[in-house]
Amino acid sequence: MEAEASDELGARASHVIEAFGHVVGDPPDGCWAAPGRINIIGEHTDYNDGYVLPIALRYGVIVAASKRADRTVLASSLQKDGVPVSVDEDQLHPGGVPGWGAYPAGIVWALRRAGYELGGVNLVLDGDISIGGGLSSSAALECAVALACADMFSLDVSRHELALVARNAESEFVGVPVGIMDPSASLLCQRGHALFLDTRTLESEQIPFDLESAGLSLLVIDTRAAHRLADGAYANRRAACEEAAAILNVPALRDVELADLDGALEQIEDPTIRRRVRHVVTENARVLEVVDLLSQGRTDAIGPLLIASHESLRDDYEVSSGELDAAVEAAVSAGALGARMTGAGFGGCAIALTATSAVAQVAAATESAFERLEFRRPRIFAASAAGGARRVLA
Ligand code: GLA
Repeated sequence: MEAEASDELGARASHVIEAFGHVVGDPPDGCWAAPGRINIIGEHTDYNDGYVLPIALRYGVIVAASKRADRTVLASSLQKDGVPVSVDEDQLHPGGVPGWGAYPAGIVWALRRAGYELGGVNLVLDGDISIGGGLSSSAALECAVALACADMFSLDVSRHELALVARNAESEFVGVPVGIMDPSASLLCQRGHALFLDTRTLESEQIPFDLESAGLSLLVIDTRAAHRLADGAYANRRAACEEAAAILNVPALRDVELADLDGALEQIEDPTIRRRVRHVVTENARVLEVVDLLSQGRTDAIGPLLIASHESLRDDYEVSSGELDAAVEAAVSAGALGARMTGAGFGGCAIALTATSAVAQVAAATESAFERLEFRRPRIFAASAAGGARRVLA
C-alpha cells in the first residue's frame, strides 16, 4: 500500500516551469493544475441524463502555458518523450491531429468553436496520474489546458461551460464519446465534498464527504489493467441505452422511474437491452440514496449500495473485469463496508470503503488475492476528496 502523497504541487510546478523554459525559451504566463477523479456512485448514468457523485483526487495534470503571437498549439508532455507536438490552424479539425496532441489541441478547437476568441498557445504538461488507468487522466489534461486558456485570454466562461468544452473536445475532436462527469468533477469538485451532479440540468450540489471524522478510509485499488474506451464497448453501451430510450419513448433512460421499471422492462424484447436498462434505472436510484445518507452524516451506511452498484455493473451492464471483481470480493471479505468498480470499467480501478482501522488488512487481502489469481500487483492508495482545477502560481 502506498503512502499518501504529500502536497507536492509547488515542487511539480517548479519542475514543469523549468521544462517550459527549455522547450519554449521563455518563462510561462502561469501554471494551472486539474485533478483526476473517482466516482463514488452513479456509473454509466451520465450519458443517460442521470446522476453522478464523483470526488476529485489529489493526483492530476499540471500545465505551464503562455500565449503565442500566432494561432499554433505547441504542446509537450513530460510523460511522453518531451518532443513538442506542433499543431497549425489548418490541422485543427476532428481527425487532424494524431496521438496525444489531439487532447490539448481539441480544447483550443472546442473553445474557438464555442465562440471564444483565443490565439495560439505553448503548453508543457506534467502528470502524476496513471494514463488510461480509469482515474480520468484525459479529463485532468483537458481541464488544466481549458482553465489555462480561459485565464490567459480572459475568457468570460463559467466552469460548467468549460466542462462542456472539455467533453466536446474529447467526444468530437479526439473521438471518444464520453459523458460530462469527468470534466465536471475535475473543474467543480471542492475539498471535503463529493459533487452531486444532475447531468441533465447540470445543477450540482456539494455534498460533505468527510471520511476522517467518521473513522473511515476510501481505498482506490488500481488493477493496472488498462481500460480502453476507444475500443467500442463504451460506445456500444451508449447505443443500447439510446435504443432503449427510443423503444420506451422517453428522451433518456433518466426518465424511467424505479417504480415504473418492471413495466418498462416488459416493453423491451432484447434481454441484453433489458439488463442495460435495469442497471441505469437502479443506479440512478442508488445515487439518490447515497446522497441522502451522506447528507445525514451516515457515510458508514453506504456500503451495501456500493456493493449493489458493483453487482449491477458486473451482471446487468457487463463492464466489470476479473481483476475488478476480485478486488471487490477480496476487499469486502476482508471487512470493507462496501466496494465497487469505478469509472467506465473493463479494467481500471475499484474503490473500497473501510474503517480506517481495517485499511491494512483490506489492502493485504486484496494484494494476496491478486497474487493467487496471477494478476498484476495492484496499486492501492487512500483517497480523500480534494479540490478542483486551479491556477497554481500567479
Ligand atoms: C467514463 C466516461 C464518463 C462516464 C464513465 C462511466 O469515465 O468518461 O463520462 O460515462 O465512464 O460512468
